[in-house]
Amino acid sequence: MSKDKFQQAEQKLKTITDFVRFAATEFERAELHYGHGTDNAWDEAVALVLQMLELPSDYPVVMFDARLIKEEKAHIINAIRSRIESRKPFAYITNKGYFAGIEFFVDERVLVPRSPIAELVENQFNPWLISDEPRILDLCCGSGCIGIACAAYIPDSEVLVSDISPEALEVAEINIEQAGLYPRVQAVESDLFSAMRDMKFDLIVSNPPYVDAEDLADMPAEFFHEPEIGLGSGEDGLELTRKILQQASEFLTEHGVLILEVGNSWVALQTAYPQVPFSWLEFERGGDGVFLLTKQQLDEHFN
Ligand SMILES: C[S@@+](CC[C@H](N)C(=O)[O-])C[C@H]1O[C@@H](n2cnc3c(N)ncnc32)[C@H](O)[C@@H]1O
Repeated sequence: MSKDKFQQAEQKLKTITDFVRFAATEFERAELHYGHGTDNAWDEAVALVLQMLELPSDYPVVMFDARLIKEEKAHIINAIRSRIESRKPFAYITNKGYFAGIEFFVDERVLVPRSPIAELVENQFNPWLISDEPRILDLCCGSGCIGIACAAYIPDSEVLVSDISPEALEVAEINIEQAGLYPRVQAVESDLFSAMRDMKFDLIVSNPPYVDAEDLADMPAEFFHEPEIGLGSGEDGLELTRKILQQASEFLTEHGVLILEVGNSWVALQTAYPQVPFSWLEFERGGDGVFLLTKQQLDEHFN
């Protein structure tokens, strides 16, 4: 039986450079969709090859001419083949996702981390988080990336991460353990605020599902590997956002703030609530659709 192009590559290619170049060409040819950690074929090829070799993302390029051993070649070729044939986001192949410079375990129980909120976490939510020992809630936490990064960047914070999905929480628990952040980070299963009775937070931060029905139907194949409960939120993408807006104030301290991502649904949100003074946050590294409201503003407009 004749060998296919992947088997031929595995036999002929020698160095990291060879495999990165091969992967990038094949990714282009297969017209993959990017957006789960990278935004082009070359960066995705570099990331996939380095991660399969357990090498850091800043591995020196001069070392790319190092020759690979047989097992490493087979491992990389399997990953390239899987990325193309299954259309899985590459984070599900390497089981690694990155958020605010921290590595997280990810698999198909959770969305691949990619929220612009990372930039706010790295800046310790300056100037909005005024308490020295803030209590933070990461609502709809998925892998736990936002809440765990909060605890890593804000040393005296206490963080609760919550999700309705027990499967997602299993992944969040793995990540809390991996980051060594017990007991400062705790995880709880909760349908939005249902398990938070009498709790108060200085910051509620959330990247809930917010994709509207039309966008959900049009998504590239890569997104169908992600849990649907993490993406869709009713016809206009705002089903969960409306509930969060109605309920959040009860769980905020007097100076507390809500920071919520709604992505492309920001237009629908502004149209639905023209009287609400949403502060739309700006990001140096790109991204939009994230707003801030204070407890006072929530009380004024939703209670
Ligand atoms: C967009 S994902 C975000 C995950 C994570 N915060 C991140 O940035 O990668 C949304 C998450 O919301 C969770 N979710 C959906 N409905 C929920 C609900 N009613 N209450 C709590 N979590 C919910 C999903 O299980 C999913 O993990």
